[in-house]
Amino acid sequence: MSEFDQPQLSVLFTAEQIQARIRALGAAITADYAGRSPLLVVVLKGAVPFAADLVRTIDLAVTMDFIAVSSYGASTKSSGEVRLLKDLDASLREQEVIIVEDIVDTGLTLSYLLDMFRRRGAASVRVAALLDKPERRQREVHVTYVGFTIPNEFVVGFGLDYAERYRNLPYVAILNPSL
Ligand code: PRP
Ligand code: MN
Ligand code: MG
Repeated sequence: MSEFDQPQLSVLFTAEQIQARIRALGAAITADYAGRSPLLVVVLKGAVPFAADLVRTIDLAVTMDFIAVSSYGASTKSSGEVRLLKDLDASLREQEVIIVEDIVDTGLTLSYLLDMFRRRGAASVRVAALLDKPERRQREVHVTYVGFTIPNEFVVGFGLDYAERYRNLPYVAILNPSL
């Protein structure tokens, strides 16, 4: 997709910048979990590109599982409601879980998942997020591995969508709200 085809986008983080941050996060996870086998829980759909790149930078015997929740409809505003659309395949009991997210915005999605995974008996639960938008937070959530902290702008690309579009962009861009 060329910039010419996407005039309403202004690039915030390039593909190269994103890959460099992901390598650093993967190295930190590899060091922090040395000798252990964490379970990466990928939150569909937005976290898929980030998770696919992150997992390949982690030098540990990790496993992966997938969960789908949704807090937004086809809107740039959160509905404030989290729905479980697809559950994990396996039990979390005794597992060291790393939740992989593309963005932490209000924190509603993450606080829902953190509560649920702790109730299910996970040994530990941490979060890796490509983007953190702290200005919008409604729930206090701790994100251990953050790619980039961003201002309160609506961003798309690298998994993040607007009405299901733009997930395939290899960069993160601000979507111009006037178009
Ligand atoms: C987006 C994003 C996070 C969540 C963050 O997912 O991928 O999962 O919202 O927002 P919050 O902190 O305000 O809860 P969305 O619900 O749009 O589903 P998607 O990943 O399928 O796009
Ligand atoms: Mn999501
Ligand atoms: Mg979405």
